[in-house]
Parts: sequence; structure tokens; C-alpha cells
Amino acid sequence: QEVRFRRSVTDMFSHEASARRSTERAPITDSFENTADSDPALPATRAWARESLDAKPKELWSPVLGSTSEVDDVVAKVKSAVGNWRAKSPEERATILRAVAQQLEDRRGQFITVMAAEGGKTVEQGDPEVSEAIDFARYYADRVAELEPGSGSLATDGASFEPVDVTLVTPPWNFPVAIPCGGVIAALAAGSGVIIKPASAVPGCTELIVEACHAAGVPGELLQAVRSKENEVGKHLISHPDIDQVILTGASETAEMFAGWRADHDGGARVYAETSGKNSLIITPAADYDLAVADLVKSAFGHAGQKCSAASLAILVGSAGTSERLMNQLVDAASSVRVGYPDDLSTTMGPVIEEPEGKLLRALTTLEPGETWLVEPRKLDETGKLWSPGVRDNVQPGSFFHLTECFGPVLGIMRAKTLAEAIEIQNAVAYGLTGGIHSLDEEEINTWLDNVEIGNAYVNRHITGAIVQRQAFGGWKLSAFGPGAKAGGPNYVAQLGRWVPNGEPE
Ligand code: SER
Repeated sequence: QEVRFRRSVTDMFSHEASARRSTERAPITDSFENTADSDPALPATRAWARESLDAKPKELWSPVLGSTSEVDDVVAKVKSAVGNWRAKSPEERATILRAVAQQLEDRRGQFITVMAAEGGKTVEQGDPEVSEAIDFARYYADRVAELEPGSGSLATDGASFEPVDVTLVTPPWNFPVAIPCGGVIAALAAGSGVIIKPASAVPGCTELIVEACHAAGVPGELLQAVRSKENEVGKHLISHPDIDQVILTGASETAEMFAGWRADHDGGARVYAETSGKNSLIITPAADYDLAVADLVKSAFGHAGQKCSAASLAILVGSAGTSERLMNQLVDAASSVRVGYPDDLSTTMGPVIEEPEGKLLRALTTLEPGETWLVEPRKLDETGKLWSPGVRDNVQPGSFFHLTECFGPVLGIMRAKTLAEAIEIQNAVAYGLTGGIHSLDEEEINTWLDNVEIGNAYVNRHITGAIVQRQAFGGWKLSAFGPGAKAGGPNYVAQLGRWVPNGEPE
């Protein structure tokens, strides 16, 4: 089954502790105002975004939860609204979710500017992200009918789907529109009410998502956004007894922590998580080097490498590892990435989310034994967030950079004598999210597909940007948490409820 799982995703054919009361909510745009004088970054996008966000009436801004009783109130509100949602016919619910897709499309420009202002995402990266959110809405809307008894679409003979009441969605900052939309819409499609808690860096994106959903007809109380700090109030939310399940995208450690907090829940912890990755792209001598380098650079430096799916290693096989042409192309391509802020529409790589520290700072500044800089990264301005891309050569098997997710604009080059050795290097990491091979040799491709331990295996293609329905997204090993089905794939919505054998008392 695991082999089928992998193949099904393979594209063979394309190459604060705030006690503020809800009446005293801070304007969402505070997150920009606070940094306006000290941070020269993003002036134009901040102004565009403010315009987009200020269009929203203040009474609709989501609260920062200040106490556990405020958490209880929000959960109770959502729970009380699910009855009406389920009373609608599947067609009515699907129609509303399709209307969400249209609302997302109508607000495309707003989403792109707010993503740029909050997360430094370039227009080039933000635009397809809105498309992905729309794809999720349409795809999950189509799944609603499949949950009905006798629809025959899923292998559900003898069991009936029972929705859960409240789903908590805790998305990441790096995909602040597509990933939250995916979680929210999937849960709504599964008949659940939803609470969404945005990552603290990107609250405005969530405001816009909730606004779009409500404008499309998703009942106001059924979908609530809340902000919370990483404190006891936040923990109360995650572990709340009336929250039936949590959809998380974040670090593997966060998934473990959430599951621990939820271990005593009657229905099980039910944490559906997409987690970390340390992804590589193999290039064999049978590759088209022009395409391979273009796909490698796109995979490594798109959104400054801040994607769980990003390529952070290239493994060059045999003579590919000594090809001057390949290395020159790589140096040229990495050096010509246009680094800047998204205000400049020609920017192809924006800033990192915060001044690097820890693993990322080490990756940007310190070589390990045996390594050299093929392209040395440079800090480009006083914010500390703008870095030119770096390429480390001669990364050694078992070293820090081979095994550690660093989440930024650094690519490492490794070499292997044979494809088998390259696969061994690729599989040696604890994660198994995405990966790729560039080769025009079918036998090499099949050998790789049969042996690689990753969720999303891409052939002759960049390794980020999974397409909903066509390349359902999710990992293996430490990149997956729990038994969850892949996002944007056939069983994702169906897993967000309970399957009760027919005839069994409820
Ligand atoms: N779905 C995104 C990608 O495929 C990552 O979350 O790049």
C-alpha cells in the first residue's frame, strides 16, 4: 500500500498574555504600525495591506484570548452553531464552500498584499498560493456528497460518517492563506464547526479568510478566528475537552506536544499534522541539466527556502558531480536570484520571517568540516532579514547540514557515486516529506520511485507546490504525524469525522 501511496502522488509527466476584553481589541494593523519606524522593510506593501484590512469593520476583528473562560466561550459558541450547519443539505453546504472559492478569487489582490506585508511573500509566490486555496475549496466542496450514506464514492460499506463538533486549525506563517484555507474548508466540508488560530506573524491573512468565508455564507458563529499567546490560555485552547480535533501544520515537536496535551480526550488526541522536512533533489548524469538547475533553484529559494517542502540538498550522481557545466549553471542561477522586498514586483526572493538565529544562522554563516561555499550568502540590510542565497558545497553524509532542517535560503551539494548511494543519502534523514529526481532514464526513475522514503516524490519537476487533487500532500517518517490522509487528496475530508459501523448504538 505504501508503494501505491507514493506512486499516486508522483507526477511522471511533468517535468501576548493580554487580558483585553473583546470590546478593546487592538486593530489588526497594529502588527504593522509597531514596526513602522524601526523597520525599513515593506513600506508599500504595508500601506496596501492596511488598506485591505481596514476595510473590515472593527467589531469583526478576532480577539486575543485573555483568559481560559474566553476560550470556553468561543468553543461553546462554535459548538452551538453546528446543528444548523448539519441541518443544511450536502448540496447547500457544498454550494457555500464553492462560494468561498469565488470569494477567495475576488479578493486575490488583497490576499497577495497582506501576505507580502506580513510574511514578506513575493507576488510571484503569493499568487499561486491564492490559487491553491481556491483549489482546496473546490476540491473539498466536491467531497461533501461522498460522506453521505450510499454515495459509493469511498470504501465505506457498513459504516456511516458522523461529524465531530469542533475542529481547531493552527496553521503556519509560511503559507498563511492556502494551508489555513485547506484546514478550515476541509473541516467545514466534514460537517464540523471551526476555530482558527493564526500564527502570530500573519493574523491579517486569517482575518481575510474568515471574512471571505462569512461573505460566502458560512454561518458567522460556526467559524471563529481567535488569537492566543503561547501560554496557559493557548494551552487551554489546544487541549480543550470540547475541541474534537486539531489540524496542525508545524514542527514535529509541536505535533508531539499537542498530542501529549490531548492524550486524555475521550475520542483520542486527533491531531492531524503536517510537519517538518529535509528534502533533496537527485540529479543524475541522465538529467537535462538546464531543467534540473532551474527546478533546483526554484525549489531551494522560493519564499527564501521557508517551505517544509523546499529542497535544501542536491545530490549529484557520478559525472553530474564533476560537471563543470552543471556547477557553473548552478552558481549563475543562485547568484542571479533577485533578492529584495515584495514592494518591488521584480523581486524573486524576499526576506526571511525574522532575523536568523539558531540552526538557520549556523547554516548561513558557518561551514562544517570539508565544506566550501560555492555561493556565499550575504546579509543585505540592517533588518538582518534580507539574505542572498547560499550554496554549500561538499556537504558530508551524517553532517549537520545533511540531517537538519534549517528553513531558509541555503542549499547544500552532496555527491554520490551511484544512484543507489544517492538514495541512501536521501533516505538517511529522519524526515520524509518531498524529494525529487532529475533523470531522463526510465530505469533510474523507477529504481528511485521504488526505494525512496518520502511522501511526495517528484520526477523531472521542482519539489514544492503540490497541486491539489493531482499531488496530494503529506509525508513519511518524521514528516507525518499520526495516520492522517494527505491534504488535497481523496480521504482527507473523510478522516475528519468518525466512521461508525452501521447498527452500532451511538
Ligand atoms: N503544499 C506546499 C508545497 O507543496 C507545502 O506546504 O510546497
